[in-house]
Amino acid sequence: MKNIGILGAMAQEIDEVKALLTEKTIVKIANREFVVGKIGHVRCVVAFSKWGKVAATITATLLIQEFGVTDLFFIGTSGALADGLKVGDIVISKRLVQHDLDARPMITRFELPLLNRIYVNSDPALTELAGKAVSNLLERGVEKMVGAEAVKEFNLAPTLYFGDIASGDQFINSDEKRQEILGLLPEVLCVEMEGAAVAQVCLEFNVPFTVIRTISDTADHNARVDFGKFIVEVANAYSRAIIGEITRLL
Ligand code: ADE
Repeated sequence: MKNIGILGAMAQEIDEVKALLTEKTIVKIANREFVVGKIGHVRCVVAFSKWGKVAATITATLLIQEFGVTDLFFIGTSGALADGLKVGDIVISKRLVQHDLDARPMITRFELPLLNRIYVNSDPALTELAGKAVSNLLERGVEKMVGAEAVKEFNLAPTLYFGDIASGDQFINSDEKRQEILGLLPEVLCVEMEGAAVAQVCLEFNVPFTVIRTISDTADHNARVDFGKFIVEVANAYSRAIIGEITRLL
């Protein structure tokens, strides 16, 4: 039987997802709260990953080792790197890469030590399922997810993308840094702080995963200002709706 792990990068966002659970039990380990229960008919364990690669690695490992999750979805926000992506768009991972990993000259830049690869692929079936869930929601209309006021305020007209996501222990908020990452990893669509770490955990434990990221900012000088507001008014509702739809389709 499936036992789905759901990790979220922001406490508020994941609180909205926790609210979907029934038959809840709360387990606390290592300053983390894991909520075990059901969303619809699906057994789930939901947790706030905490921020950054190390924190997310701990949380993902606990989800797998302590709770035996069979599949893992990571949901959160990210900064757009690729031109054309805008606030409110949704990116689902095909591959994850750590943009701040550099063990040269021993190995190639970005290569995962002892794993012989730069990228970790997300699971094709989970990626397709998440894509179907997001497409269903977008077909019904974004105002159904967030309300007409937020649509107007953030000028939301979301597009769904599938592609590469880069993670690092930095909040990217300068055009210089954004261009630097893009110059080195031109296929990357967006940047965040946890996905590639969770991907590495899942690779080593052989657990299928995918990452779903809503664009909250453009990773440039506007990033910090936009971010907080977007979480409260949009990202929470997106997470709740997307996880709700994924579990409905499972
Ligand atoms: N998460 C959301 N926006 C981000 C950014 N600009 N950099 C890193 N992580 C993010």
